Amino acid sequence: MNVTSLALKQPVPEVTRAPSRALATSADTLLYLDGVTVSFDGFKALNNLSLVIDRGELRTIIGPNGAGKTTMMDVITGKTKPDTGTVVFGANVDLTKLDETAIANLGIGRKFQKPTVFENLTVFENLELALKGERGMWKTLRALLNGEQRGRIAEVLKTIGLSERPAETAGALSHGQKQWLEIGMLLIQDQQLLLLDEPVAGMTDHETKQTAELILTLAGSRTVVVVEHDMEFVRSLGARVTVLHEGSVLAEGSIDHVQSHPRVIEVYLGR
Ligand SMILES: Nc1ncnc2c1ncn2[C@@H]1O[C@H](COP(=O)(O)OP(=O)(O)OP(=O)(O)O)[C@@H](O)[C@H]1O
Ligand SMILES: [Mg+2]
Repeated sequence: MNVTSLALKQPVPEVTRAPSRALATSADTLLYLDGVTVSFDGFKALNNLSLVIDRGELRTIIGPNGAGKTTMMDVITGKTKPDTGTVVFGANVDLTKLDETAIANLGIGRKFQKPTVFENLTVFENLELALKGERGMWKTLRALLNGEQRGRIAEVLKTIGLSERPAETAGALSHGQKQWLEIGMLLIQDQQLLLLDEPVAGMTDHETKQTAELILTLAGSRTVVVVEHDMEFVRSLGARVTVLHEGSVLAEGSIDHVQSHPRVIEVYLGR
């Protein structure tokens, strides 16, 4: 479903508050978090986090274990509600007021660290399910695909490098191929913001390189936020890097900037 059709179905909650002055939003801004705090039993997983992502941007997020990277994605996708702060998508949509399904329908897709493909179905069927929406698996698979839908599946198979293996059972794919299939499931839903949590964890060097190529082909036409620990991979993406530490932004800039930042070295890279 695209944003236009959703807008006709239900009113989206709009933000009336302006972002705080320190936040550099502009007409290019697709997503911003402003002063977001999330506490678990008094521990602040996110602590007054503010962040701006532009439309079409590729952004990498790094930081030590427990820095709040996954929690940040949980907040954007509506899995976790912040105690305080604003999360704004698109022109003016307040994501903190929406549930996970409504946020996915707005065009925000997420890939968890562990692939969640249907292992017993084929590559093609996994994409087919993602395309049609999951209204009950067998009912969905019985409904015939039209030519345009077949074309879209073929296009995504090509993008994720699985054109030769549509009939392969997803469970038989390599770990890397499963990750690509899962990215394909986001692409086929035409999500405009993709959140990828540690996409190359557990991949071989070759698969990691191929994943970087894949992500680079996606950026521009979509907005992509990638969380990773693999610094060589992060460098190969050549994107702006945000370093999270203790729930807020410690540093932001080019890979060279953050890799030579004394506090980043102290709390993360030097360890
Ligand atoms: N549901 C939860 N209940 C309690 N504590 C949580 C919950 N989710 C996250 N935390 C805590 O919040 C902190 C931030 O966790 P988060 O998973 O966001 O870190 P991360 O930056 O993704 O780390 P990693 O690099 O290890 O994936 C951690 O201390 C974690 O234990
Ligand atoms: Mg994490």
